[in-house]
Amino acid sequence: MRERPSSRREGVGIVRHYSLLTHETSFLEDVLAGLARPQKAIPPKYFYDERGSQLFERICELPEYYPTRTELAIMDRHVDEMAALLGPDTQLVEFGSGAGVKTRLLVDRLEPSLYVPIDIAESTLREACKRLALMFPWLNISAVLADFARPVRLPEFVGVPVRRKVVYFPGSTIGNFTPDEAVAFLEGVRELVGAGGMLLIGVDLKKDKRVLDAAYDDAQGVTAEFNLNLLHRINRELGGDFQVKRFRHKAFYDEHKGWIEMHLESLYSQFAHVAGRRFDFRVGETIHSEISCKYSVEEFQALAARARFHAEKVWTDPANLFAVHAMIAV
Ligand code: AVJ
Repeated sequence: MRERPSSRREGVGIVRHYSLLTHETSFLEDVLAGLARPQKAIPPKYFYDERGSQLFERICELPEYYPTRTELAIMDRHVDEMAALLGPDTQLVEFGSGAGVKTRLLVDRLEPSLYVPIDIAESTLREACKRLALMFPWLNISAVLADFARPVRLPEFVGVPVRRKVVYFPGSTIGNFTPDEAVAFLEGVRELVGAGGMLLIGVDLKKDKRVLDAAYDDAQGVTAEFNLNLLHRINRELGGDFQVKRFRHKAFYDEHKGWIEMHLESLYSQFAHVAGRRFDFRVGETIHSEISCKYSVEEFQALAARARFHAEKVWTDPANLFAVHAMIAV
């Protein structure tokens, strides 16, 4: 880490924790409703229990899973330019902050007045805050436990001078929304940052199907374990009796739709119970567990424009695998 004169770095930061998880975010209700649909489906946010968060961190290290290391390299290379563009005295709000590796780079250069990480996984959020507070003792942190797949109303954070709100949304997590959902989400972000506010967002690019298929169905089977953990989690937390070995991980890039689809496929004709309710499966029937949309630079700029974000600058890696967009709310 580089040392440089900065008055902000001398103070002692204040760390606060908020919980905005409502009863509307209910694993049980979402699973029961999702399994009752003709195409069974469970929202991807439920991947991230403790085991799932650990498995996701292992995915990020896989040779086939290029997004994490590619985005990190883009950040590493261009973070000074990014920080200069975002400017001083910012309130930095991060959606899906997770383990927060990329955040360190940005916080170090940007020196925000306040950092607001938002995540649905409580232990991950707490640990990431602890690490950041140790690395950056001057940093004010207001951590928010929330499900950002629904509209979040952040508390008014007072006491720090803020010139601009900036939303950081790395990891191509935006890809978990359909394009229309992504626009609705970005409209919420637009409202949060206000006119002149900025968005720094990591978006996975469209590319060769073979590269994408391998990234979501790795040779070591870590992604399979991550997907199947959803059934283990149902068994653990909701009194389910899924025979997990009777399902398999299925993931493929749909070139027409421009997204990865992940499913849990039933290998047999079978049934399982959740909270006393029975669900039947035909051979080959699936539970749809995730989409991961891929966008060209132009496609994403057009999508963001629908939410009144103007493309300011975009950085990509030499192999054109991943893009980081800086956008301004107009
Ligand atoms: C965390 C949603 C960005 O879509 O690439 C990784 C999740 N799923 N491997 C992605 C994921 C399977 C990841 N996101």
